[in-house]
Amino acid sequence: AVARGEFYGYYLGWAGPARRAYAAGLALELPSGYSRADCVVVCGMGGSGAAGDYLAALSAAYGGLPVYVVKSAEPPRWVRGCLVYAVSFSGNTRETLNCASRAYRLGGYVVAVTTGGRLAAWARRVGVPVAVVEEAPAPRAGWPQLFYTLLGSLKAAGLIQVPGGHVEESIQLLGERERAEAEARELAEWLQGSRGSLVVLAPEPYYPVAVRTRSELAENAKLTADAAQVPEAGHNMLEAWARSGDTRILLLDPGEEPWSTLLHQAAGLARPASLHVARLRGGSMLSRMVWGTWLAGLASVRYALDAGLDPEPVKTIKAFRRVVE
Ligand code: F6R
Repeated sequence: AVARGEFYGYYLGWAGPARRAYAAGLALELPSGYSRADCVVVCGMGGSGAAGDYLAALSAAYGGLPVYVVKSAEPPRWVRGCLVYAVSFSGNTRETLNCASRAYRLGGYVVAVTTGGRLAAWARRVGVPVAVVEEAPAPRAGWPQLFYTLLGSLKAAGLIQVPGGHVEESIQLLGERERAEAEARELAEWLQGSRGSLVVLAPEPYYPVAVRTRSELAENAKLTADAAQVPEAGHNMLEAWARSGDTRILLLDPGEEPWSTLLHQAAGLARPASLHVARLRGGSMLSRMVWGTWLAGLASVRYALDAGLDPEPVKTIKAFRRVVE
């Protein structure tokens, strides 16, 4: 457990772990046979699995091997020949441990990404590489080390086509603390000041940021939200939002056409009781995703602190983890 202010301070200092993790990912040595991989699978739950969602979206947009994300104990039947990142911050998540060992038995090229725990012990026992990531006050706060380790490793293996300049810019953006804090405060105030069911809406390529925002709000702010994307939500959810009259919408706007126009048009049709636009800053898709993720972390912690809640403990998640054991 960490002091409340320290938890916020950790999020604020994401640039450091991001930079170190990217360098470590680039330097990670994989056995030569791993270069035969023709697909990528990421096994991970919660804050750890989130890294996989981002890489799947980035590989689709920039080019690279297809990335398939598993949020259970079961790798896909076709996992043989795939590079499999088993990502667990603690190294003790049952679903991820099972996914890793099953993928290994089925012929996947497994890499463990973790701070240690049982996952690291298993990996060393069977002889698969371990990328050891830096500690953080909670798995979800360790998003930069998980995400940038995977990104660096995929880049070094030539399996994702995100330009190095975009990676550099995204890490530099994490240095803009004042602006991030101001925007996070505005978002937290809007969350405090408005009422109604909450939807986080993003354009399709940025959907992982909406999902992460939803989860950060759940874990840090103990707030319920839905995550949705356009155009898909325009084909279903819009009907209910427009009818309810008490939907509040958080728009994640990348300031990029055609997405921004579509996003605002959909939001207008939803007739929200209240709307807040969070601009995803940055000169590339990667940077905009990183900015949105940072903002979600900071705003969710800020909201909790302002509401007198301790953002760090996740008692019910811990209870669920014991059920799964
Ligand atoms: C808690 C959190 C959770 C965990 C999840 C899996 O901060 O973010 O979503 O990430 O319970 O645990 P790990 O990441 O240790 O595999």
